[in-house]
Amino acid sequence: MQIQQNFSLKNYNTFGIDAKAARFAAFHNMDELAELISLSTGIPFLILGGGSNMLLTQDVTGLVMKNELKGIEKVSEDGEYVYIRAGAGENWHAFVLHCIANNWAGVENLSLIPGCVGASPMQNIGAYGVEIKDVFHSLTAYHINEHRPYNFNLADCEFGYRESVFKRKYKGQFVITDVTYRLRKHPAFNTSYGAIEEELTKMGVKELSIRAISDAVIHIRSSKLPDPAQIGNAGSFFKNPSIPASKFAELQQQFPAIVGYKNSDGSMKLAAGWLIEQCGWKGFREGDAGVHAKQALVLVNYGNAKGEEIYNLSERIVISVKEKFGVELEREVNIIGSL
Ligand code: FAD
Ligand code: EPU
Repeated sequence: MQIQQNFSLKNYNTFGIDAKAARFAAFHNMDELAELISLSTGIPFLILGGGSNMLLTQDVTGLVMKNELKGIEKVSEDGEYVYIRAGAGENWHAFVLHCIANNWAGVENLSLIPGCVGASPMQNIGAYGVEIKDVFHSLTAYHINEHRPYNFNLADCEFGYRESVFKRKYKGQFVITDVTYRLRKHPAFNTSYGAIEEELTKMGVKELSIRAISDAVIHIRSSKLPDPAQIGNAGSFFKNPSIPASKFAELQQQFPAIVGYKNSDGSMKLAAGWLIEQCGWKGFREGDAGVHAKQALVLVNYGNAKGEEIYNLSERIVISVKEKFGVELEREVNIIGSL
């Protein structure tokens, strides 16, 4: 296994931030992972998947370990479900397409999300009415200090909106090495997200299929989210904030067009993109740091922005949304560094 020194991470994070790693290595199997973990004792380290949900605000003074654990296999099945295990280093969208090709249903709404399988439960990724928790069965994660694997089931992961134990109480303690999904042999289509129905009609789809839903999601996403290969970004920079129904009613008096959706507990989830747009940030650019012109929730790097510049812009957005609406935005992207 090759360990590289003073390695540029520009091509390894979708924001395209040119931060350096003092040391960088890719692991392809459990032995290589164990070796790297032994080498990183006492120094800072970073587990890297596709780098599509992180903002590097400074150089990494320790070791960056790039996950290249591969493999997709059917581990079992019953009348209703197939249980599919995928290596954490598999590309997420390629995995989705593989499931569609095999007629395994459940992940089609999550088409075209960048990144790797390993981060999917970490973030409980979600889009168009589906979250990983809906198709999750179990995962294996390697404990960094105890040097041994653990198995986590659905309850162990404590999934929430873009949350799991791996971002909270076990932060920095585990490397997720494989994930097993429970997928349906007979699809239960989820077209609850309005835009999907509209897109399917536009596409002239007569008979619903998981491939048609995937294609619809791909079209919708491509029309509003910037392609990281063209403009650096990490998807939604902030979470959509939830507020009590009473606070929502107050805001609605003042801002009748405010966009909100009811949560199962009665609170209201606001569209952060709307709040940010109302504060005048949509399409804003200063140097190479900006706010996407078609989706105000997405911060972008037009080329050579530093992580710190993107972070500072995000801070200004947080302050202005707080001032105008009294609502606190929380970053969804993982901030790597001391900011
Ligand atoms: P990375 O960015 O590499 O890592 C993210 C975090 O997880 C880091 O803290 C990292 O250290 C840690 N990590 C990564 N792998 C492991 C592992 N194996 N074990 C332990 N820790 C690990 N997300 C959504 O939920 N829904 C969307 O619709 C969506 N759309 C997006 C659109 C665009 C254009 C972009 C750029 C991003 C979007 N995202 C979306 C965010 C992102 O794609 C997901 O969060 C994705 O799961 C991140 O995967 P990754 O492999 O790139 O993670
Ligand atoms: N809106 C605006 N202005 C904008 C952007 C959005 O007014 O500039 C309003 C619109 O009214 C729109 C509503 O916000 O109807 C919601 O926008 P959109 O459907 O684009 O979704 P989102 O809430 O901005 C969330 C996720 C996305 C996910 C989509 C689809 C979060 C933080 N983001 O975005 O996830 O793909 O829904 O389900 O929950 C990500 O996590 O990186 C991500 C892209």
